[in-house]
Amino acid sequence: MKISIIGAGNIGGLTVLRLAEAGFSDIVLVDIAKGKAEGKALDLEDAGAILKYNYCIQGTEDIAKVKDSDIIIITAGLTRKPGMNREDLLNKNARILKEVCLGIKKVSPDAVVIIVTNPIDLMTYLALKIMGSKPYKVFGMGISLDAARFTNLISKELNIPYTDIEAYVIGNHGEGMLPLPRFTTIKGMKLDERLEDKKIQALMKKTLERGHEIVSLSGSAYFAPAQAITVMVKAIAKDEKRILGVSAYLNGEYNTKDICIGVPCRLGKEGIEQIIELDLNKEEESAFLRSAESIRKHLKLIRPFCHGL
Ligand code: NAI
Ligand code: 2OP
Repeated sequence: MKISIIGAGNIGGLTVLRLAEAGFSDIVLVDIAKGKAEGKALDLEDAGAILKYNYCIQGTEDIAKVKDSDIIIITAGLTRKPGMNREDLLNKNARILKEVCLGIKKVSPDAVVIIVTNPIDLMTYLALKIMGSKPYKVFGMGISLDAARFTNLISKELNIPYTDIEAYVIGNHGEGMLPLPRFTTIKGMKLDERLEDKKIQALMKKTLERGHEIVSLSGSAYFAPAQAITVMVKAIAKDEKRILGVSAYLNGEYNTKDICIGVPCRLGKEGIEQIIELDLNKEEESAFLRSAESIRKHLKLIRPFCHGL
């Protein structure tokens, strides 16, 4: 199994380490910055010598080296600065993503591609359009990170272990994200039966603000994102058929068409093997459609990047 990571920054570098520790032994790390991927690859291989893990990491500036990858993760791009929302990043990152996706399309058109670059719902859509891949092969990581944050906050509030909590978040990885208390369970019991509404609302708000909070304290998050990517890669590589929230292309599911947005999906060796349609009530459905609208209204900014393909 060959795995390639584009972008050797904070998320890319740490993801390589996590994947290597998880037993993936053939990894290519690409970055446009001279020497960056190569230097990190040397350092990461030295870490393997300490661990006595025989993995091989190739660092390069040449995207053609991702040839015949099974899974490619795109983390290339700028991060949010304090006060900036994910959409502000759109123009600069769309340019980067286009260049990267055209490079991938030439040498690895059949890979499963995971988009991490923000704003991920829009970048996933753009990647799909540029590569012309099957929609189940290209999807984004973001909403599973939000679910992890919701889990963490619930755990702290109720003083219970993470293993007892199954948290659901859908919608865009941004202001319109939608934590779902009715589907979130604690040892099988619904969250809204364990906590009063006011407390749940406060946890939902904190979940939404978590990314901003981290950005303003220490810069863009990367420990949890690298972990979330690793779980997704394992689900695909080991054909686990595990259900995880991903930004997926919808074609009628959730009464939504032609956008990428966070929904629970079953992941296996083909990529997305099933989009799970939760039985949303009226209120949840309207919130989801509002979230979808907040993505759709930015699609016109993406379209110029699709011209001439
Ligand atoms: P970083 O700044 O540490 O690394 C980004 C890397 O991309 C840099 O090394 C840069 O040289 C490289 N790069 C830029 N253009 C490139 C190109 N054309 N080809 C190859 N490499 C290129 O950023 P970090 O922290 O790793 O974040 C990466 C992206 O992930 C950002 O867009 C950030 O907003 C996003 N992010 C997404 C999350 C999610 O849940 N989806 C969570 C946190 C961050
Ligand atoms: C996060 O949620 C910035 O998308 C990034 O931490």
